[in-house]
Amino acid sequence: MASTAVLLLQLLLVSLASASHLLGTSATYTYRGQNPDGTYKVDLHSRSIFKTCDYLSWSCSGSNCLNVVKSPSGVIDKNTNTPVTTCETETVFTTNVSSDKPFQMRASGCCWRSTANNVGSWYLLTEVDLGKRSDTGKPNRSPDIGLLPFLRVPQNCPRTYKLTSFDPDGDKVQCRYGKVSGTECDKCNLPPGFLLDQGSCTLHYNYTQANSNAFGLELMVEDFPQGHINLQYADGSRSYRVPMTARTPPPTTAPLSKLPMQFSFLVDPPAPSCQEGDFLPKLLPPTPANGAHFLAEVNKELEIRVKAQAKHATINNIIVSGPANISKHQTTPGEFVLRWTPLPDDHGQHFVICFAVEAVKPPAVYQSEMRCVLVEARSEKVKSHVICNESSMTVSVEKASFPRLHEDHMQLNDPSNTACSLQRHSNSTHIIAIIPLNACGTQIEEDEENLIFKNEITTVDNPGDLITRKHQMEVQFYCQYPKQGNVSLSFVAHRKNITVWEKGFGTFTYQFEFYPNNQFQTMIDPAAYPLEYDIGNRIYMKIKATSSVNNTQLFLESCRAAPYDNPNYRPTYSIFENGCQMDPTLQIHSPAAQKEFKFSMEAFKFIGLHNQHLMRVDIPKDNPNMTCQAVPLRSQSMVSNQQDHDPPSRPEHHASPQE
Ligand SMILES: *[C@@H]1O[C@H](CO)[C@@H](O)[C@H](O)[C@H]1NC(C)=O
Ligand SMILES: *[C@@H]1O[C@H](CO)[C@@H](O)[C@H](O)[C@H]1NC(C)=O
Ligand SMILES: *[C@@H]1O[C@H](CO)[C@@H](O)[C@H](O)[C@H]1NC(C)=O
Ligand SMILES: *[C@@H]1O[C@H](CO)[C@@H](O)[C@H](O)[C@H]1NC(C)=O
Ligand SMILES: *[C@@H]1O[C@H](CO)[C@@H](O)[C@H](O)[C@H]1NC(C)=O
Ligand SMILES: *[C@@H]1O[C@H](CO)[C@@H](O)[C@H](O)[C@H]1NC(C)=O
Ligand SMILES: *[C@@H]1O[C@H](CO)[C@@H](O)[C@H](O)[C@H]1NC(C)=O
Ligand SMILES: *[C@@H]1O[C@H](CO)[C@@H](O)[C@H](O)[C@H]1NC(C)=O
Ligand SMILES: *[C@@H]1O[C@H](CO)[C@@H](O)[C@H](O)[C@H]1NC(C)=O
Repeated sequence: MASTAVLLLQLLLVSLASASHLLGTSATYTYRGQNPDGTYKVDLHSRSIFKTCDYLSWSCSGSNCLNVVKSPSGVIDKNTNTPVTTCETETVFTTNVSSDKPFQMRASGCCWRSTANNVGSWYLLTEVDLGKRSDTGKPNRSPDIGLLPFLRVPQNCPRTYKLTSFDPDGDKVQCRYGKVSGTECDKCNLPPGFLLDQGSCTLHYNYTQANSNAFGLELMVEDFPQGHINLQYADGSRSYRVPMTARTPPPTTAPLSKLPMQFSFLVDPPAPSCQEGDFLPKLLPPTPANGAHFLAEVNKELEIRVKAQAKHATINNIIVSGPANISKHQTTPGEFVLRWTPLPDDHGQHFVICFAVEAVKPPAVYQSEMRCVLVEARSEKVKSHVICNESSMTVSVEKASFPRLHEDHMQLNDPSNTACSLQRHSNSTHIIAIIPLNACGTQIEEDEENLIFKNEITTVDNPGDLITRKHQMEVQFYCQYPKQGNVSLSFVAHRKNITVWEKGFGTFTYQFEFYPNNQFQTMIDPAAYPLEYDIGNRIYMKIKATSSVNNTQLFLESCRAAPYDNPNYRPTYSIFENGCQMDPTLQIHSPAAQKEFKFSMEAFKFIGLHNQHLMRVDIPKDNPNMTCQAVPLRSQSMVSNQQDHDPPSRPEHHASPQE
């Protein structure tokens, strides 16, 4: 008996420990309308940042609460620059309530990651009132919270953060410190060194002791109408709301909703300089301004570009908070792209995306100012479609989707070449453009994994005009191709070309062939396979990428031989590893910076290493199967920076194919 009890206790401790290490959390809600059974549906969007991709649980509190269904919606951001690694996730708690009367959503638990101000447990409160507003005729909409859940600043650098600014109903949004211990907050006191301007939701950091633990800040966001309104309920009753009077909100003024906003604020040791651009990254154009407004279309990707500079530190990361599944990519040092695609369900809603760039000068990490932009998700207006193949992008735009759309008044980035004319392929219902990857003003960009070719169709009054006064339309499109591919070739059997990517954007094909000699002129006819070589004879091989883009080149990252045709077979014999030659007989027959890679090596056979003791594995001695893994196609600028054994460095600027 006693031992069972001990065991249970241990399990309990384990489960508590796994839920700890909270660094910040916030919530907003969306009214989803009435269910067929007459009940009301509300989605609570809860974002939380933990050491691991964890989430916290909310429950409904109120006499009208029925049931809550939890559905994780995805990861927002992961980071490793923090003193601990962090992961921010979003989880939606769909709540079913029996009436449109106010209710609360609550969450509590243990523990925060150790905080400098002893915030231990989390207490979170969201208040929702579904009464119909007399000014909008609809239930109140939740303010949007704009915040990075992990902020950091050097001790000696005062800084100001604008926390949130947007309310879809145009209400006045206030941010106050949590007051009610055990419901809204744990410690409920703004730490010394910080100032909170409630009316403008602005947090000022002035000065406090640096601490390796972050401060836990526990704020509440509330919205108040701009004029006198009432909320009308289905049972005929009403409640009244008045505007918040300047400076001194009377305690009787009830907000329309209450939302939690809790986050970590790390005060780092002093920086040698607080000047932006020295150690603290300075945000540069085209980074959008704080508060910028973007329109996004459902099912179309939105792209936000962020650029930063720091003279004495290395920019290495962007931290992001926004809707689930937003993705971040580094294009060149100091340049990032954020991408997000609204889903049909997001239609009509607003989303705040906040970001800051981080630079390192070990052991110090420097974070830029935080900026937040507002994205409104609209329905799809312009119906367009892109098909990518190895040599071109084919775009079609439905004319019916945009008034008075005519190919005569539309052009590509660079229309000077007649091959780039939109008249050529368009028909009565669609504007159709077939754009070579290397012409018509197509721009090439790259990030960690992909080469991206971009162009756009824009309106012009008369071809050649520089200005327009007519309807403006822009269809931006791109084709994305992975840089990495795998090709395999066996000594005995010929393989088909391997197409390396099939996610729907585009692919390049890599060919892998045998040649009789170092002239590499006529490949050995696959009909002659299987080829047989005497040990020590030279085998000539060529890998070629079928890309029509000039300034790309093939870089062979690794190449291994295995006795069986199974890429997972171990051990393998390394011929190339990370671009380095491993086999002493290897010779390279093509100059660097080419689209093909020619090489040769002496034929070899595998020695039966494992056939001595327990197992007798029959390893064929004569026919090794060779797999060359990861053959990235890189743009030239990337490779020109490359040192012999270093991992590939990033280009300083984009190469564009027209150069
Ligand atoms: C709402 O909750 C009630 C009570 O649990 C249940 O009967 C009803 O089916 C729920 N409706 C929806 C749409 O979940
Ligand atoms: C996020 O991506 C995951 C995996 O692709 C998907 O299951 C989930 O529905 C997405 N969530 C949102 C909100 O887009
Ligand atoms: C800011 O910090 C400085 C240095 O500690 C102090 O002198 C000053 O009074 C502080 N200002 C505010 C508004 O707290
Ligand atoms: C790519 O598509 C274009 C337009 O459909 C076509 O003309 C071209 O032959 C295609 N190229 C390849 C390599 O398939
Ligand atoms: C115009 O081209 C599009 C795309 O190829 C095609 O779907 C459509 O049927 C064509 N319309 C006419 C009238 O030929
Ligand atoms: C190449 O092969 C390796 C090992 O089998 C695999 O992990 C990797 O995902 C492959 N890459 C591509 C682009 O298919
Ligand atoms: C591989 O692709 C090239 C170019 O697309 C083609 O000429 C060749 O015949 C293909 N080889 C095989 C075996 O399919
Ligand atoms: C690409 O290279 C080929 C061969 O060197 C050349 O004929 C062609 O004009 C180049 N294309 C562009 C767009 O530079
Ligand atoms: C090598 O690969 C070919 C083609 O996939 C396969 O038929 C053959 O059995 C493999 N050879 C060995 C020794 O596994």
